[in-house]
Amino acid sequence: MEQQKEIRLGLLGMGTVGTGVVSLLHRNGELMQKRAGCTITVEKILVRDTSHPREIAYPADKFTSNPEDIIDHPEIDLVVELMGGIEPARQYMERALKAGKGVITANKDVIATHGEELLKLARENRCNIWFEGSVGGGIPLLRPLKNCLAANRVEKFLGIVNGTTNYILTRMEWEGISFEDALRDAQDLGFAESDPTNDVDGWDAAYKVVILGGLSFGTFVSMENIYMQGIRGISFRDLQYARELGYTIKLVAVGDTVEGRVSLRVHPVLLPLGHPLAAVYHEYNALFLEGDAVGEVMFYGKGAGAFPTASAVVGDVIEAACGKVHQIDSSTMDIQLSPRPVLPMGEMVSSFYLRLQAYDRPGVFAALASTFGEHQVSLDMIIQKRSDEGTAEIVLITHRVKEDNFWAALDKISGLPDISKVFSVFRVIQGGSQR
Ligand SMILES: NC(=O)c1ccc[n+]([C@@H]2O[C@H](COP(=O)([O-])OP(=O)(O)OC[C@H]3O[C@@H](n4cnc5c(N)ncnc54)[C@H](OP(=O)(O)O)[C@@H]3O)[C@@H](O)[C@H]2O)c1
Repeated sequence: MEQQKEIRLGLLGMGTVGTGVVSLLHRNGELMQKRAGCTITVEKILVRDTSHPREIAYPADKFTSNPEDIIDHPEIDLVVELMGGIEPARQYMERALKAGKGVITANKDVIATHGEELLKLARENRCNIWFEGSVGGGIPLLRPLKNCLAANRVEKFLGIVNGTTNYILTRMEWEGISFEDALRDAQDLGFAESDPTNDVDGWDAAYKVVILGGLSFGTFVSMENIYMQGIRGISFRDLQYARELGYTIKLVAVGDTVEGRVSLRVHPVLLPLGHPLAAVYHEYNALFLEGDAVGEVMFYGKGAGAFPTASAVVGDVIEAACGKVHQIDSSTMDIQLSPRPVLPMGEMVSSFYLRLQAYDRPGVFAALASTFGEHQVSLDMIIQKRSDEGTAEIVLITHRVKEDNFWAALDKISGLPDISKVFSVFRVIQGGSQR
């Protein structure tokens, strides 16, 4: 059979990442041709508004607002979905796979919520779906997890997978500015959306933790089983106290397995300053994991942006093109999934940081210790940080405790006559332990 000389792409979307993909295909076209063994050309681009001026000058007939012009185009080999959101992106990917076209996407929302059915559909139609850009932007994460670490049993991972929140926390910690000011700067610099909910409340990281869980543990956990706590409740004072105690605060995506049950969650943690992830600042992302053969591994780099994400997307395009040209049945991202029980959050064992305000009078520490004791929560450390007009600010860290016990104790503590306010509660990763 004659080798295919040209692979034609149909792009669904040409916004931030789509523009990066098209620029990169131009910039490194010759190199890619050598690597893929064929030329890679863009045949058609779907956008909402075809009259909108674009950063890259392309003939007007390349653009369309009709998805059929791509999905049903007989000469388009691969569909690159870079629209974002769940619908209609999911539906277009489904139709492309049914038409036997390979699909490349950076869409974490769709992969986290419909990845399992799309992978199945790809298998049934003898094609494939690639999604390296959906987690960690330009950092090679998913392929290494799926392929290079395939010999390992991965029992846990811990990642900083949202650049916006990491940028905000870095600015707050280093410059002592408020969450609101750091968020405004992130929006001005284009790191945060005008509606920041997806990032600051943990949704973006939750989609990513689902995908990482799929590759690490071979099971897809649905979004309603992902525990989420965002960063709105973190203040400069928490960051300051954390540092005094030898910690920094990061929003992390965590996955682990406990006696066969899977736990995936997103929440801030106090991370010991010596932990490899503690040195990940600004918009950078990183994933830290432990394999039973390889030991500790860390991946680090830019988790978003036009070119870092295009790097992952075009990498997928080259692999897909190579597979077509050499007629290799590539199953790179085809994960074998099976259901696994989920560990309820209340049964997790965690260590907690708590900052509260109490009336400055004798017996407060004793009341706290005794209420915690009644719920089998033991304290690692308790200190009074400041006092102010009859009130005192108290910071404490617990030993590792069943979550249900901690929350029941906190409920009782909030109602104690000595306690005037609970400011913040975060989990703590103790030195030498990932959890
Ligand atoms: N931005 C990043 O740094 C980054 C990083 C990792 C992953 N991702 C993922 O990559 C994907 C694309 O993100 P992005 O930031 O490039 O998005 P974006 O800038 O908002 O671009 C979206 C593009 O899709 C088109 N589009 C959207 N809905 C459409 C519809 N219903 N019909 C036709 N065209 C439609 C838009 O057309 P118009 O141009 O006409 O509006 C635009 O060209 C998302 O899944 C995102 O999660 C992004």
